[in-house]
Amino acid sequence: MTDRPVTTAVLLVGGFGTRLRPLTLATPKQMLPVAGPSMLERVLAHLADHGVTRAVLALGYKADGFTEAYPDGTCAGVELVYAVEPEPLDTAGAIRFAALEAGVDETFLALNADVLNDLDVTEMIEFHRSSGAEGTIHLTPVDDPSRYGVVPIDADGRVEAFIEKPPRDEAPTNWINGGTYVLEPSVLDRIEPGRKVSIEREVFPAMVADRTLFALQRDGRWVDAGTPATYLEVSLAYLDGSIGTDPAVADDAEVDPSASVVDSWVGAGARVEAHVTLDRALILPGARVGSGATVRNSIVGPRAHIGVGAQLDSLTVVGDDVVIDAEAVLSEARVPAEAE
Ligand code: GDD
Ligand code: MG
Repeated sequence: MTDRPVTTAVLLVGGFGTRLRPLTLATPKQMLPVAGPSMLERVLAHLADHGVTRAVLALGYKADGFTEAYPDGTCAGVELVYAVEPEPLDTAGAIRFAALEAGVDETFLALNADVLNDLDVTEMIEFHRSSGAEGTIHLTPVDDPSRYGVVPIDADGRVEAFIEKPPRDEAPTNWINGGTYVLEPSVLDRIEPGRKVSIEREVFPAMVADRTLFALQRDGRWVDAGTPATYLEVSLAYLDGSIGTDPAVADDAEVDPSASVVDSWVGAGARVEAHVTLDRALILPGARVGSGATVRNSIVGPRAHIGVGAQLDSLTVVGDDVVIDAEAVLSEARVPAEAE
């Protein structure tokens, strides 16, 4: 076994971002701003700290959103390689497609790029090598494992089962798949080309059967930013000191001095008028909040316009360019509403 540094990461960024609609109707999930920089940039800055120099983006849905944003082919100092799937291939299919496009032939990282964490990736790679694993998964503890891949392990860290999204009362442990993997190139040979293959439902269970899959339990900061609640929460954590102390109001945003802005982020070019109350709000770039309006625990999409005196509450999400009437009262709303 060579001990060459692991410098390539395959990033899964091609999902539809369904749970974050309507924000993801125009913008792919990992291109949404997380209190300024895109989710992708936040992920890559962390990987760069652990020696990653090349990121292969496994693209599908809204691939242009990435290629146009980084025309010089770098992000957070990391070289980008774009691999655009001809059709959605699911998690393993996408990893295989992207890794082959980039000619990956050494140990590499693969990630769900909607996860923001402070994982010691360097330590994880060392654990992967010392156990002689074919693949290693980071595990994180959660209160409700039913939304995730549930992963019991033995005392050596060998994975005993991989159970994707089990019924709530059937999860054998609350340690779940954190979405960061160290993989040997041989994993790619396990993935049938040209069809949808789920790493969680097909590849990992096969590796469990072959006893080649290991996992590392690490209880650090971890969030899957793929829902309005978690996207909001992690964005605010970059402002309040729990992750960082980034500016809560972008340089060229306009906030009237009479507005009350508490635990909130106001993006570039946004305008917050007189006597507005923002409380745990994300006001995305170019949006406008009319005078006297209240935005609480809610997200206002790019260039949307919240009418005078309107009240938004309880994880209301307003999409790009939407106009909300004056005095409207919205709670737990998605505008436009999901057309399913
Ligand atoms: N390129 C490509 N093609 N990417 C995809 C595809 C696809 O067909 N399907 C999903 N993705 C990307 C998404 O953009 C995301 O970054 C990642 O794959 C995972 O998809 P999600 O839709 O976010 O999955 P999840 O959050 O329900 O569950 C996954 O993450 C959990 C941790 O957050 C699973 O891996 C769980 O086992 C895990 O616990
Ligand atoms: Mg996710």
